[in-house]
Amino acid sequence: MSITLGTPLQSSAFKVLLLGSGELGKEVVISLQRLGVEVHAADRYDHAPAMQVAHFSYTLNMADPVELKALIEKIKPNLIVPEIEAIATEVLLDVEQQNIATVIPSAKAVNLTMNREGIRRLAAEELGLPTSAYRFASSLEAFRSACDDIGYPNFVKPVMSSSGKGQSRVKNFSEVDAAWEYAQTGGRVNQGTVIVESQIDFDFEITLLTVRAKNPETGEIETHFCDPIGHRQEAGDYVESWQPQQMSEAALTEAKRIANKVTIALGGCGIFGVELFVKADQVWFSEVSPRPHDTGLVTLASQFQSEFELHARAILGLPVNTQRHSVAASAVIYASVDDQNLSFTGVDLALQNPNTDLRLFGKPEGFKRRRMGVATARAENTDLARELAFETAAKVLVNQNPS
Ligand SMILES: Nc1ncnc2c1ncn2[C@@H]1O[C@H](COP(=O)(O)OP(=O)(O)OP(=O)(O)O)[C@@H](O)[C@H]1O
Ligand SMILES: [Mg+2]
Repeated sequence: MSITLGTPLQSSAFKVLLLGSGELGKEVVISLQRLGVEVHAADRYDHAPAMQVAHFSYTLNMADPVELKALIEKIKPNLIVPEIEAIATEVLLDVEQQNIATVIPSAKAVNLTMNREGIRRLAAEELGLPTSAYRFASSLEAFRSACDDIGYPNFVKPVMSSSGKGQSRVKNFSEVDAAWEYAQTGGRVNQGTVIVESQIDFDFEITLLTVRAKNPETGEIETHFCDPIGHRQEAGDYVESWQPQQMSEAALTEAKRIANKVTIALGGCGIFGVELFVKADQVWFSEVSPRPHDTGLVTLASQFQSEFELHARAILGLPVNTQRHSVAASAVIYASVDDQNLSFTGVDLALQNPNTDLRLFGKPEGFKRRRMGVATARAENTDLARELAFETAAKVLVNQNPS
């Protein structure tokens, strides 16, 4: 059945509840607003970026099943769109089962990807996709032997964590106990369990944005790929990205095979950020986000439909176009101080070049290394685009206000 969109704030409204209201959610909300969707945005703190462009906003602990269930019952959304991983996903499984709302892309996808163990076992053991070698450990003793099994250097990550929290690269046996301690501080819920991964010696890493969207003629869900996005991570956090990332035909074919397989297994409609490591023609699956990906901010400058518009369209059952019109790059703008009420100067200089653009997220509070905005730039090739994006980001100064 094709979708009927209503009028926001009226009884015909088509309602979306966004769980997590960060900068990626903010762009999704803007795309939904343009189609007349009524948007409800939730997060754990007031005035989060997506709340500022939504019709309604709610501050709550989304990891608390009682609070989350009560909110869903109050709003009665058509769609629930998770933007972060720290959500009481058992509530979403229940909501989907009882047909209360559609969970994007599916409750199964949200549930499996919030925990590194769920998605890794699905990818490697059920789907047979190439990944790094790995072990799980829930005690220091088990962790020590997991590290010995996997060898060094290896990567240690709490199974419930993102953005590099609690992660470390363990170079030898003498670093093992400290890595365990550190992982215990970075996990979200069910603290304790970590994954130990062998290091993949890749040439580069990519995000392959993969969209599952309905074909309006056939009603079938089809898979679409954006051009691969190259990116650079520092301490588990993305600092710059560019599109397209050049890669061999064979590696691209393999990347699409992996992304296709994993997104079909997760199901539903929407965009997925499939993270892959590439060495010559060889590709390894790393992880997948069942939502827009931070490195995909570059698509604001490179594609006819950004990853946010693609997500908005796909979740509404509308057709998508993943075509790129430009070579572009993105560079993150960070806060350098811990403070509220920050101000930004140099924006005029940053935007002087007609091939640049900016997003300032409007976060009420900054802290050291918190992502406050992003600069994008278009150029003839990715090297020039990266340089221009970096220069543009550097021109924006994040200032503390006199108290
Ligand atoms: N097994 C590995 N071999 C080599 N590099 C790795 C490995 N695992 C992680 N990395 C590096 O660390 C980065 C962060 O790892 P990962 O994506 O698993 O963490 P994350 O906390 O989910 O990060 P984010 O939330 O920012 O995506 C990767 O993008 C990659 O650069
Ligand atoms: Mg990652």
